Amino acid sequence: MYIDIHSHILPGLDDGAADVAESLNMLKIAYENEITAIIVTPHNKANRHNASKQTIEKRAGELQCYADEHAYGMRIYSGAELYYRSELVELLNQDKVCTMAGSAYVLVEFSPMDDYAYIRDGLYNILSAGYRPIIAHVERYQSVMKDQNVVDTLIDMGCYVQVNVGSVMGRFGFRTKNDAKKLLKNGRVHFLATDAHNATERAPEMKNCIYKLYRKYDEKYIDDLIYKNARKVIENVYI
Ligand SMILES: [Fe+2]
Repeated sequence: MYIDIHSHILPGLDDGAADVAESLNMLKIAYENEITAIIVTPHNKANRHNASKQTIEKRAGELQCYADEHAYGMRIYSGAELYYRSELVELLNQDKVCTMAGSAYVLVEFSPMDDYAYIRDGLYNILSAGYRPIIAHVERYQSVMKDQNVVDTLIDMGCYVQVNVGSVMGRFGFRTKNDAKKLLKNGRVHFLATDAHNATERAPEMKNCIYKLYRKYDEKYIDDLIYKNARKVIENVYI
C-alpha cells in the first residue's frame, strides 16, 4: 500500500494529464502500482491562469467517482504544488489555494536555480504563518544540493522533504540520482512521490523503486516514506 502525495493526474489543468482519457490511464497505472491514495497536486504559479481551489476539488471528486466505479479502492484528495512567491502566504490565508488534503501541510516548489537563502526565507515565511511546508523534489535545487547539510537546517526549522521516484531511478540523470540516494542514505527524506505528469515517460510508477529501496534500507524507514508520513498529512497530525 503506497500513498502518492505529488501527482499531476487531474486533466487539463497544468502540464500534467492532457485529457480525461490520459488521467484515467494514469489512475489505472497507479492502481497497478499498489497506490491506494493520491493527493492531486496541480501546479499553482505566479502570473498563470491557475485552477481554482473549487475546480481542483470538483475534478478530484470526479476522479474519485471513477475510481469507485472501477472498484480501485483508491482515495483521492485535493492538493496543489505551490510555486513559492511572496504573496503565497496571503493566498493561503485567504483560502485561495489548496493545502494538502485540507491539512496544514503545503507542497512548495522553488526554481532549481533559486539561492539557498531565498528558499530558506520563503519556507520560514510559510512556517511563520502556521503551515507545514513539504519541499517538493528537493533534489532539484542546486543551491541545496551543493551542501546537503543545509537540508538538516530546513528540517530543524519544521520543513519536510519530498524526493521524486524518477530521481531515485535515474530518470533525471546520474547526478540527480546520486543526490537523491545521498538524501535517502542520510535519513533526510520524509516522502517519496511520483510527481507523475502523464501515462508514458512520467507515469505514476512506484512499485519497482520501492522494492529496490526495501532491499537496501531499513523497512521501517521506507514504510514512513511511502505510506506512514503521508497518512499523517491526510490526518493532519505532526510527523
Ligand atoms: Fe510536480
